[in-house]
Amino acid sequence: MLKLGVNIDHVATVREARYRGLGHGEPCPVLAALMAEAAGAHGITAHLREDRRHIQDRDVWALREKIATRLNLEMANAPEIIAIALKLNPEIVCIVPERRLEVTTEGGLDVLGAEKSLTETRKKMNAAGIEVSLFIAPDAAQIEASARVGAQFIELHTGKFAEDFQAADDKRRKAETELLRLIAGAKQAHALGLQVNAGHGLNLENLPALFAVPHLVELNIGHSLVSRAVFTGMENAVKEMLAVMKNYRT
Ligand code: PXP
Repeated sequence: MLKLGVNIDHVATVREARYRGLGHGEPCPVLAALMAEAAGAHGITAHLREDRRHIQDRDVWALREKIATRLNLEMANAPEIIAIALKLNPEIVCIVPERRLEVTTEGGLDVLGAEKSLTETRKKMNAAGIEVSLFIAPDAAQIEASARVGAQFIELHTGKFAEDFQAADDKRRKAETELLRLIAGAKQAHALGLQVNAGHGLNLENLPALFAVPHLVELNIGHSLVSRAVFTGMENAVKEMLAVMKNYRT
């Protein structure tokens, strides 16, 4: 069964818009996580960014204490965050690229260009019992490098697919091209022994098209769930997503 990891970063984005630096405020991302779990989510994802623009340190500690499913900590391959992850002990970390000026994680990780350092981080995490996922574009060289690093998972970046899917008809053809890249990437990764997750920009509309990608283990979805939750509540938003995800056949 295809699993759903719910990314609750943007609940914290709304809180920080009003309460930045105050150490309290609403809406509470931990409460959102508990509601997502109650609705059947298989895991909770939070990105502790170096600039702490949304999720704060206190959030990840409260998540660690309160959630009953798996905690997936998204993080940059940076010493400060690595040290926090090793203390926090999430079930899995997903290493992502981070740039201060980006609105959200934009590109995939350059695993090829940072193979040595990522291998060291992977070893530290695995030694602490934490699995490692690398957030990458569906690029053959990056997938090979991810296998050499020894990661347990890759998370295929679906941002480009989602963006093209949204566009007018002529651009939609590009989404089909990106879909072919995602399919090839998933097959290659699976053949190399990597488990395959996917995420970024996924929503109720584009998910059925994404289901052409084989070997998917988990989807990490944030923005569309939090947006939908504004109108329907988090539990309904998660249930709706899970109902669509039941149609996935690898
Ligand atoms: N996966 C990763 C690695 C991400 O960085 C993000 C965005 O924080 C997501 C999944 C979720 O993307 P979205 O919020 O567009 O669903």
